[in-house]
Amino acid sequence: MASDVVTLEATGGLGPITVAIPQGRQTITPASRMAVAAIGDNARFLHGRGLDWGAGTGLLAIGAALVDDVDFVLGLELDEADLPVARANAERNGVGGATRFVHADSYTAVDPDDQPDIDDLRGRADFLVANPPASPTGDGLDWRREALRGGLDFVVPGAPVLVQISYQYAIARIEGLVDDVPGYRYEGVAGTTDWVPFDQSRADLAFQIVEYARIEAEGGIPYTFSDGAGGHLTAAEAIERYQATGESPLSKWQMHLFRRV
Ligand SMILES: C[S@@+](CC[C@H](N)C(=O)[O-])C[C@H]1O[C@@H](n2cnc3c(N)ncnc32)[C@H](O)[C@@H]1O
Repeated sequence: MASDVVTLEATGGLGPITVAIPQGRQTITPASRMAVAAIGDNARFLHGRGLDWGAGTGLLAIGAALVDDVDFVLGLELDEADLPVARANAERNGVGGATRFVHADSYTAVDPDDQPDIDDLRGRADFLVANPPASPTGDGLDWRREALRGGLDFVVPGAPVLVQISYQYAIARIEGLVDDVPGYRYEGVAGTTDWVPFDQSRADLAFQIVEYARIEAEGGIPYTFSDGAGGHLTAAEAIERYQATGESPLSKWQMHLFRRV
């Protein structure tokens, strides 16, 4: 099958990474580009053996495996079709022997024969990286909570945990993840893009922002977008402005650093 070959040069000093993505599959997103650059920028924190929750076509696991002091990365991925792509991409970047990709629903192997590969890191993983999807309902962070909660059984005390969470979720909600999932402390933003449109012409993002506004209306922490002029908008305000002007609000793709206590 034909593939799109993507070379990333801005990898936070990891060197260029080239991945091939079969046409029709999710290509490398701006969030993934930012996330792998954040891994490079935070390479000083990474060593030993780690996990990539939701490894997809392998980019973050490959980036982490390219860090000098990292020996091995286990990628966990629910979509079986991504696994051969991730393996081939790891080979392509010279880290085939330093990575393994397992068909898994979170930390549980789909094929029980693969569970020992996951359990091998239980209580012994030196780091965790994750770029989880937005959860379709609720405040959008449930897959992050899942990655963090399950990760408690795997990462050692002091281990860095890098999670992609975009700006609009609001820092109070992001910091609050350590209350939702006790066992971590929050250490700050580890990587970011500039402002990017939270494109309201996209049906999925238009749906998400309505969910956000619903949560605000129920008394949840307000979401935080930029208006592009130095001001901030809640989700409800952003919807109102888009309806009036057609201007999408702005957000940033960001990687956040947590640490297992
Ligand atoms: C936003 S993509 C990130 C892919 C890749 N890590 C990257 O940054 O390019 C999220 C990935 O999480 C995977 N995923 C979703 N739910 C999962 C689950 N329960 N267990 C493992 N992987 C999951 C999706 O299939 C998808 O590949």
